[in-house]
Amino acid sequence: FNVPIAINEPVKSYAPGSPEREAVLNEYKKMYNEKVNVPLYINGKYVETGNTRTMSPPHDHKHILGEYHLAEKSHVEEAIATALEARKEWSQMPWEQRAGIFLKAAELIAGPYRAKINAATMLAQSKNIYQAEIDSACELIDFLRYNVQFMSDIYQEQPESTSDAWNRVEYRPLEGFTYAVTPFNFTAIAGNLPSCMAMMGNVVVWKPSNNQVYSAKVIMDVFEEAGVPAGVINVVFGNPGMITDTVMASPDFSGLHYTGSTPVFQDLWKQIGNNIANYKTYPRIVGETGGKDFIVAHKTAKPKQVATAISRGAFEFQGQKCSAASRAYIPSNIWEEVKNFVIEDVKSFKMGSPEDMGNFITAVINEGSFDKLAKYIDDAKNDKDAEVIIGGNYDKSKGYFIEPTVIVTTNPKYTTMVDELFGPVITIYVYDEDKFSETLKLVDETSEYALTGAILATCRYAINEATTALQNSAGNFYINDKPTGAVVGQQPFGGARASGTNDKAGSAQNLMRWISPRLIKETF
Ligand code: SER
Repeated sequence: FNVPIAINEPVKSYAPGSPEREAVLNEYKKMYNEKVNVPLYINGKYVETGNTRTMSPPHDHKHILGEYHLAEKSHVEEAIATALEARKEWSQMPWEQRAGIFLKAAELIAGPYRAKINAATMLAQSKNIYQAEIDSACELIDFLRYNVQFMSDIYQEQPESTSDAWNRVEYRPLEGFTYAVTPFNFTAIAGNLPSCMAMMGNVVVWKPSNNQVYSAKVIMDVFEEAGVPAGVINVVFGNPGMITDTVMASPDFSGLHYTGSTPVFQDLWKQIGNNIANYKTYPRIVGETGGKDFIVAHKTAKPKQVATAISRGAFEFQGQKCSAASRAYIPSNIWEEVKNFVIEDVKSFKMGSPEDMGNFITAVINEGSFDKLAKYIDDAKNDKDAEVIIGGNYDKSKGYFIEPTVIVTTNPKYTTMVDELFGPVITIYVYDEDKFSETLKLVDETSEYALTGAILATCRYAINEATTALQNSAGNFYINDKPTGAVVGQQPFGGARASGTNDKAGSAQNLMRWISPRLIKETF
């Protein structure tokens, strides 16, 4: 099929004086002052429920950005009914027409909506501009473009036929409606989950995180302007338990596309299991969940490279990427050098509001996250097995600021070596440089999660040994690199064990989960 060949959207520099810097700062200032009102979006209409909650920037939590509306049960039911109605036409629409809508959405984000989506992400999710550009604008553009290409590849795949039997596969969407539950940390993931299901002809009830409302609104505006018909993607904010209960009580529920925490995903799976006899079809379940992502260095690794992997891998977006490095295993022979480089890097990171583009670190997402991280840091300060070697201070008077913090422990099973913290904290265990194989075994044994991981070494034997020993410990495995920053079309992303179903985001495999093929055989 002839679809545009997907290319990764070039990342803009936001250098001082550049037009993109001026545009995003103007948008940021406007949004900071305008007091936005974010309704639900059902059947192509913005719905104000009157039951509202305020939004504030995590780095400036006393300032009110505006408010968003919370759904009642009846709104969720309306979203489901409207989606099922919209399905009648949407599921029959030629796929090229659906593709055109999402390619248009990609170009709207690349052009007129770029500053808006980035500013909303900076303001309401406290992401610095460089990370917002990569993780919001460019990654969402890439998801949309590549998924159209994967979709076209999928539809081309047809079985053999003979003169007696003409065999063909019809790639139908799932019967019923699908449910997207998306996280705050990647605006691109929030946009990808509902759109990739819709692209395959499905209709969607989308529940964004209550911490990502502002950029969810921008995404919905883009989808509407691109031509997604009324009812195809419906957005409901509010009480996650009530929304999920209402969705899952419907016999037409046929798919869950989830990114978020492991316990919530497990609860959703159980709930689907408990209702299984009520559904018209077995719901598809795709989830990307927690992580406890690792860096392992070998005694032949380059200390500077290891240090950069640690400081970038652990502290980009305040460590709130599911892929963020949060534990590292460093051999004793290079530890002093690695330590000095890490400390130097961390000292160079400025912390503050994302509006000042010199700030690499901004606030963590909310008070709950701040309090949890502060407690782990305090416990480490008071524990004989742990030492905070840099960072360790925090302050929530204006925003939820936590310094990038490095803990060193003598206990490889110390709590911060195994618990998922989801913040700017990494814990390092220094191992005897001659115990590489034992260390790999330890890493695998302590990998309850298996999302991302990295090996750093110059010795090829060590790289090969780690690649084999850690084959089930990470769905995305990086050699001589940090474990974050997967690029759509280049590194499909996802993990197994407690990290999810490993249906790689940004891949044909993921899109295949949202179709229910019909084989037709015809004889003459
Ligand atoms: N794509 C992101 C990363 O690799 C995770 O979703 O950091």
